[in-house]
Order: sequence, then structure tokens, then C-alpha cells
Amino acid sequence: MSIEVVDVRPHERHYGVYMVRLEDGTERIATKNLTPGKRVYGERLIKWGGDEYREWNPYRSKLAAAIVNGLKLVPIREGTHMLYLGAASGTTPSHISDIVGEKGLIYSVEFSPRVFREFMEKLVDQGRRNVVPILGDARFPYQYAHYIKGVDVVYIDVAQPAQAKILADNADYFLKPGGYVMLVIKAMSIDVTAPATETFKQEINTLKERGYEILETVHLEPYDTAHAMVIARKK
Ligand SMILES: C[S@@+](CC[C@H](N)C(=O)[O-])C[C@H]1O[C@@H](n2cnc3c(N)ncnc32)[C@H](O)[C@@H]1O
Repeated sequence: MSIEVVDVRPHERHYGVYMVRLEDGTERIATKNLTPGKRVYGERLIKWGGDEYREWNPYRSKLAAAIVNGLKLVPIREGTHMLYLGAASGTTPSHISDIVGEKGLIYSVEFSPRVFREFMEKLVDQGRRNVVPILGDARFPYQYAHYIKGVDVVYIDVAQPAQAKILADNADYFLKPGGYVMLVIKAMSIDVTAPATETFKQEINTLKERGYEILETVHLEPYDTAHAMVIARKK
């Protein structure tokens, strides 16, 4: 049996994110369910004050892990248009879909047909109309350029080498001036102020060389080993 919820209130910093307090005193984060009654990955549904919320699990979503670990800047609001590279079966995109709401859009690129089918079943077929599924390879943005209008944010989590390059290549095509990029990368240490791996440094350097100012870096331990989230903006 799950522990009872005693309070739900907006997160003090992040639009569309809620803090859920449980009777044992612990807190979780959640988003307001855009498709009430429907789960995406087995998450807990919470009814409170006439609304339904979906618990956002930091062990399953790197963006949730970054928020729980104190990420200050989440450049996602109601109506945000985002390009999401590496959508997988839609765990994180589903919560972003809750946050951006009916006026927002998430162009979601995934290159594995099997995983893409799961994404379709869990998000699109369940009535999430702000999700635009794209079966495509993020390394080749020209292949899907005709589907996408300018976006406010480009997010990447493809778990592949050269992510920063792929991110910047996509941003060159689709990011509006003043837009943000969000990059999930592997870091060596649980303390990102300590020396990072070559990969980590290289990825950050690639972003800098491509004209980005690094605004924030947050490690994802203990939820995701040796990963960090980087937020940057074109100078
Ligand atoms: C770590 S998972 C993403 C998890 C997802 N971001 C989430 O938080 O719910 C990485 C995904 O990227 C996909 N991927 C890897 N390389 C890709 C590429 N070049 N283009 C598109 N998708 C890619 C993989 O098939 C996999 O589903």
C-alpha cells in the first residue's frame, strides 16, 4: 500500500512542477496529468484538490533527477515548443507534455522502431496531442527538418558519443534566437566541481565552441550514476 498524500503545492521555482508531501514527511515531485486516469510508466496517480497529478520518478527520468538535485533553471513553461532527441518510450517527454500543456509542443525524435512503437502506444495513442512523434536519427536533422518549426528548447538524451555536437547541429536548424539547450552527459564524479572525465570536458567544450554559454550543471547521483544535466544558451 502506498503512503498517504497530505499536501500538494506548486514547486517554489519551477513552473508546472508540484511538491507532494507524504504522511511520513517525505516529499516527491509531480506534474498535473494532461490525460487524467492514464499512466505512462506505472507512476503513482495522485488526486488532490480536484486535480490529478502524476508522481515524477527521479530514478526513471533524468530531468526529474536534476530537479530533485536542485537544478535552478528549467526553461520549460506552458506553451513551450521543444525538440526532444532520444524520446525512448516517453517517460520524461510525458512529464514535459504535462508541463507545456495543450498550447505546447514536443517534437520527439527516436530512432529505434521498437521503442518508437512503445512511445506511440504510451503517449500518442493515449491522447497526448502536444506530442509530435518522429521516427528519425538525431544525427541527421535535415531528415526531419520539414516537420519542425522553430523551437524554444532543444533537449538531448541519446546516450551516444558526440551528444553535444548532435545537439548543436539540431539547434542550428531549429532553435529560435535566445532559446535554451539541455544536455544530459556522463560525468565522472558525483561532484561536478571535481575534475570531470575527458568526455565530460569535451562535451562542454563542444558547446562552448559552438557559441553556447553554460548556465548550469547539475549531477544526477544517486538517481543516475555518473550523469549530469547541462543547461546552456547561445551567446
Ligand atoms: C537514455 S534513452 C532516453 C530516455 C528518455 N530521454 C527519458 O528520459 O525518458 C536514449 C534513447 O535515445 C535513442 N537514440 C540513441 N541514438 C539516437 C539517435 N541517433 N537518434 C535518435 N534516437 C537515438 C535510443 O534508442 C534510446 O531510446
